[in-house]
Order: sequence, then C-alpha cells, then structure tokens
Amino acid sequence: MGRKLTIPDLLAKVEKGEPLSMITCYDYPSARIIDQAGVDIVLVGDSVAMTVLGYPTTLPATMDMMLIFASAVSRACERAFVIGDMPYMSYQVSISEAIRNAGRFMAEAGVDAIKLEGGRNVIEAVRGIVKAGIPVMGHLGLTPQSASAIGGYKVQGRTAQTAINLLEDALALEEAGVFAILLELVPARVAAVITEKLHVPTISIGSGAQCSGHCQIFHDAIGMFEAFTPRHAKRYAEVGAILREAMARFVAEIKDGTYPGPKHSFKITREEFRQFRAYAEKR
Ligand code: KIV
Repeated sequence: MGRKLTIPDLLAKVEKGEPLSMITCYDYPSARIIDQAGVDIVLVGDSVAMTVLGYPTTLPATMDMMLIFASAVSRACERAFVIGDMPYMSYQVSISEAIRNAGRFMAEAGVDAIKLEGGRNVIEAVRGIVKAGIPVMGHLGLTPQSASAIGGYKVQGRTAQTAINLLEDALALEEAGVFAILLELVPARVAAVITEKLHVPTISIGSGAQCSGHCQIFHDAIGMFEAFTPRHAKRYAEVGAILREAMARFVAEIKDGTYPGPKHSFKITREEFRQFRAYAEKR
C-alpha cells in the first residue's frame, strides 16, 4: 500500500512530470477502494450536498456535516492525501473563524489540508490559515459557492479581462502560500498559461490537459450521479446501472422465494428446538 503521501511527495511527482490524480469522496468504503486504487488526492468536497444529500447546490453543506464525511474518509485513506473542503460561510465571515474551522478539519477530521474557493477576495483568510500551519489548496474558475453571483455553473475566464483576473488571483494565492490550486471550468489554453506562470501545481476539473493534475467528482466518474453529467466528466463505470439491476434481482428473488435460501439461515440444535416447540405449543 505504501506510506501516506505528503505535500513534498506530491510536488516531487509533478517535478518528475507525473500528473496528479484527485477524486472527491465522502464515505469510508468508497475511500478504501479509492485509496487501494492508488489515487493521489482525495477531496471531501462540499459537492457532497448535491451528490449524496440531494440538494440542488453545495450551499447547504455545513461544518458539522463536512467533519463527519471528512473523518470517515480520513480513517479509510492509508496512502492518499486527504483534503477537507471548507463549506459555504465557514471562512467568509472573519479570518479568525476561517482559521478555527480549518483547524477543526485538521484536528477533528484528521485531514491533511483544506481547500477553499476564491482568490484575492479571500486572500487574508488564506494567509491566516497558512500562517496557522494548515496547508491550503486554492480553488479558482467556477466556484460553485458563488454560482449565483457569477451567473451560474459556467466556464470562467473566456474573455481576456476575466482570464487576467484569474491569473492575478492565482498569483495572489501562490504568494499567500497555497500548495496547489484547483482550476474549475477554465478554458484549456488559459489554464495552461496559469500553470506555466505558477510554481505550485494546478489541478484541473474541466480545465484541459495542461494542468499538473486532474480531478473528477467520484459519482460522475462511476456513473452514480444521474441527474446530469457535466461535459468534462468521463465515466469509468456504470455503477448506478449495476446497483439498479442488483436491487431489481433482490426484489424479484424475495417475490419468488429464491432469497433467503438455506445457506442464509441459522440453525438450532434438535433438543433445544424440541424444548422450545413444547413450550410454544402450551402458549
Ligand atoms: O466540492 C467539490 O467537490 C469541488 C469540486 C469542484 C472538485 O470543489
């Protein structure tokens, strides 16, 4: 299995030209499988609000919820680097609250780093968290917590000025001490230039092939989120279809008496049963 990956290990991979793999995850059994498969980084994303809890946005995710999901994933990952995603309003209200909540992820959930959305608008929070000794991953481009303000879930940085803003945000985050930046839905050529200009790695989710690593939402990658499939997502399995078929067989076997069979039942000795039967007959 190998030992737990650290930030220097991740940076060494990038230095060697090995792209990093990152996937979201929110539960223990899935995290075990992901860890055993050799994924480098597991993000306990606030996307859990949509993929697992069925909300239409990520905004309802709270710190208390995120700590439960993050600690399950941390317990499962022996090798992968685990990142806790700071939920809506856990770092925007004040710098001290941001540091306290980042610290809760580390101390209570046992993650290796935190991620938060935004650039120059959250730079003091990033600085404070980094100063507290907590590694931070930045997140630019489509930042789902501000979807309403940025006009929905759409590609960011399509004009020269918005691309410049992204580059300046990325440079500010790097200067504030982030160890990597997630670029979500940024045009591939813009993401490539930002990657070239930074010393820290970039991780792409829908931002092209030239970033230092690549991320997907677990439920998109395994075919478990059927509400919609984003254009950048690639399905590596049809787990939803497999589970539906398994549950349909379960229902059918209960109806036709195939399940449970003799091997799914437990025995009592003949003598114990004789005594029990005698008792039951008198009732
Ligand atoms: O919450 C999340 O899953 C994210 C994705 C964009 C990776 O931030």
